[in-house]
Amino acid sequence: MLSKKREHPKIKSQLHPRNKHRERYDFQQLIESSPELAKYVKVNNYDDESVDFFNPEAVKTLNKALLKHYYDIENWDIPQNYLCPPIPGRADYIHYIADLLGSKNNGKIPIGDKIKCLDIGVGANCVYPIIGNKEYGWSFVGTDIDPVAIESANKIVESNPSLKGKIELRLQTNPKDIFRGIFKKYELFDITVCNPPFHASLAEAKAGTIRKLSNLTKKNITRPILNFGGQSNELWYEGGEEKFAETMIRQSKQFSDSCFWFSTLISKESNLRSIYEALRKVEALEVKTIPMGQGNKTGRIVAWTFLPREQQFIWAKTKWNR
Ligand SMILES: C[S@@+](CC[C@H](N)C(=O)[O-])C[C@H]1O[C@@H](n2cnc3c(N)ncnc32)[C@H](O)[C@@H]1O
Repeated sequence: MLSKKREHPKIKSQLHPRNKHRERYDFQQLIESSPELAKYVKVNNYDDESVDFFNPEAVKTLNKALLKHYYDIENWDIPQNYLCPPIPGRADYIHYIADLLGSKNNGKIPIGDKIKCLDIGVGANCVYPIIGNKEYGWSFVGTDIDPVAIESANKIVESNPSLKGKIELRLQTNPKDIFRGIFKKYELFDITVCNPPFHASLAEAKAGTIRKLSNLTKKNITRPILNFGGQSNELWYEGGEEKFAETMIRQSKQFSDSCFWFSTLISKESNLRSIYEALRKVEALEVKTIPMGQGNKTGRIVAWTFLPREQQFIWAKTKWNR
């Protein structure tokens, strides 16, 4: 009889070369770090060890194990129904912006807590600050309009001594603002990151959840499990990621001297046209589009700066190479 076992490529080549998740998950190793994962690991129809990605508890426990094993995060949790981030894709964003910073520093990635990043919409999971700090020692300010997300992110920082003093959370009290009320007077950031709410309406977010569940289960799901993997404000914003990014671009102009690079994730390629138009209107001096492959999904980072070359050079020399 033919074996059902599938052959897998050893390396997930679509992930960034420094991404720690390029190889298939080694569940035995992960279980050694996090024994509570054991009860969720099963051999699937292809004779591979895996967890049930339809089960939010299993996915959360896998994330806890990954964060512990690869990033020394002892305590990580999120409130029920909040977005449980796929760690490999989130790590990719961090590695690509590290290269972006390095490209302005003679190819050397600037490291340490003197590098200050601003994460717009940090979420309850605090994923970008965790990975950015653990991989490159950077310090972070994370913002969110959701007090529950801020409280949860704060709890993660407070319960992991190595993160204390490296990650600060700030509540954005006006949902229409992105940077206003967040930047303090004379405060400088080296880069901003953002994974914007994706869908344009609650109905679209629900349809997206149904699609995701149907793909996962290979069944025809007609009603979403309420809030599966994301609160509504995490998933949608009026006008979707396109409007969110446009607002961010418009408002970034006001802080043009206070930040070297602004950046955001853009999932939908068709949104790029209006985003480039918005960048042209604010007269961004340099715009970079960095493609990222994440499993079956592809996305890209769009980054822009208002700093002229000479000022970029001085910034890198005085701030990153002190
Ligand atoms: C897709 S989630 C991203 C969460 C997390 N960064 C991640 O990648 O898993 C988007 C987040 O943006 C937040 N958000 C929406 N409008 C915002 C604003 N004006 N300022 C800051 N955060 C905002 C939402 O509350 C939500 O937590």
